[in-house]
Amino acid sequence: MTVSALVGMQWGDEGKGKIVDILAGNADVVVRCQGGANAGHTVVLGQDVFALHLIPSGILRDDVVCVIGNGVVADPVRLSEELEGLRGRVKDVDGRFFLSDRAHMVMPWHKSLDALAEGKLGSSSIGTTKQGIGPTYIDKVKRSGIRWNQARDIDNFRKRFQTALADANAVIKLLGGDPMDERETEERVVDIVGKLRPYIADTVAMLHRFVREEKRVLLEGAQGTMLDVDFGTYPFVTSSNTTAGGCITGSGLPPTALRDVHGLLKAFTSRVGSGPFPTELDGREAELLRGTGANQWDEFGTTTGRPRRCGWLDLVVARHAARVNGVNRLHITKLDILSQFDELKVCTAYRIGGQETSDFPADSWSLEDCEPVYETLPGWKCDLPACKAVAELPEAAANYVNRIAQFLEMDVASVSYGPGREQTAF
Ligand code: GDP
Ligand code: IMO
Ligand code: MG
Repeated sequence: MTVSALVGMQWGDEGKGKIVDILAGNADVVVRCQGGANAGHTVVLGQDVFALHLIPSGILRDDVVCVIGNGVVADPVRLSEELEGLRGRVKDVDGRFFLSDRAHMVMPWHKSLDALAEGKLGSSSIGTTKQGIGPTYIDKVKRSGIRWNQARDIDNFRKRFQTALADANAVIKLLGGDPMDERETEERVVDIVGKLRPYIADTVAMLHRFVREEKRVLLEGAQGTMLDVDFGTYPFVTSSNTTAGGCITGSGLPPTALRDVHGLLKAFTSRVGSGPFPTELDGREAELLRGTGANQWDEFGTTTGRPRRCGWLDLVVARHAARVNGVNRLHITKLDILSQFDELKVCTAYRIGGQETSDFPADSWSLEDCEPVYETLPGWKCDLPACKAVAELPEAAANYVNRIAQFLEMDVASVSYGPGREQTAF
């Protein structure tokens, strides 16, 4: 079996785009399995910077087939903008890009409902990306969503759309929002959906055929373990399973097909949006981790531009993620950012209510009075050299990497020390 998954081990933005692009060099097919345009995966190719939201990062490799799987909630407006933005920059996607007929559609009203729900929550809002992700998954689970297969018959789609929009407008009014112009919204969306129809496919059958043909399939996770609706910091999470299980249910491939699970761990921690973050820093150290926004890799959201909250590496989180995903290939990213510090801290346990634990608790509120237990490691205070092997890193940097590997009881598959493909040691 040649199916692997790649997942984020923190709160997203671990550098999945960069590592997917590298792994896609040895893949035939890359599949997005959950989430939607809330994701922002940046890939740097020389002077070119690509920000992918719905389309798998494998699209940058000419011979890779890219699939949006059944578990994704795909917004036609965002998808068509993204396809348009890639035109002329990547090899023509026709014949190598497919959209699952079982995937749900994010509709304009889902985005309005997302914003209204956040507004109602006020200071306890989740800080969503306002991409309509939660409301679309609510409709999916409530069994009232619109799936892409319904767009195959555009007259039927129109009818379904009109009913759903009328229902949504009633709710929007109840919540105090502005109802949508029914005619304008319908014409705009129907036009876009009509143009996307050639990409709709039975991707479950397609992926099974690929596996039978021994094609190498990479399942590209979005978000990160701590944003998983079951295993993350509920309710400050996204609305899908961002972990390896979500890669399975969101693609239609069986769990027994999975050979490797690549886990991505940023060398420090970031989070965008509200919710607990035990190792969060403020002041100068946070600023150094975040950067000023002058570099594309600085910690500002790819999707929303919001500054990300930053803190030390949390190994309690990392172990929780390694467990629930079954990570067996560990990738550490953004090690170069730590070159600025004299010494580094890593959190190895939490002290909550006088008790020490290294298991991540279910109760997000208990984390409010959680004191991280830190281990201090020496910094290296120099630019990391262009190197191909972890052993070539400066001693203190190699020590930092090895401490993570030892704590998680696994080898390190790669260390990334810059956004470029070549800035990676194996
Ligand atoms: P994703 O959502 O997990 O794909 O991550 P994002 O793309 O949102 O954020 C990661 C950012 O860091 C992107 O701008 C990448 O180009 C950049 N990046 C990835 N790996 C490295 C690295 O090792 N060092 C530096 N400095 N930047 C990196
Ligand atoms: P990538 O794939 C970081 C966060 C939002 C918010 C919460 C819920 O680039 O790592 P949602 O819009 O999903 O309902 O928001 O999840 N969030 C992300 N944070 N990276 C992401 O994706 C995220 N996708 C959602 O900020 O806190
Ligand atoms: Mg991102």
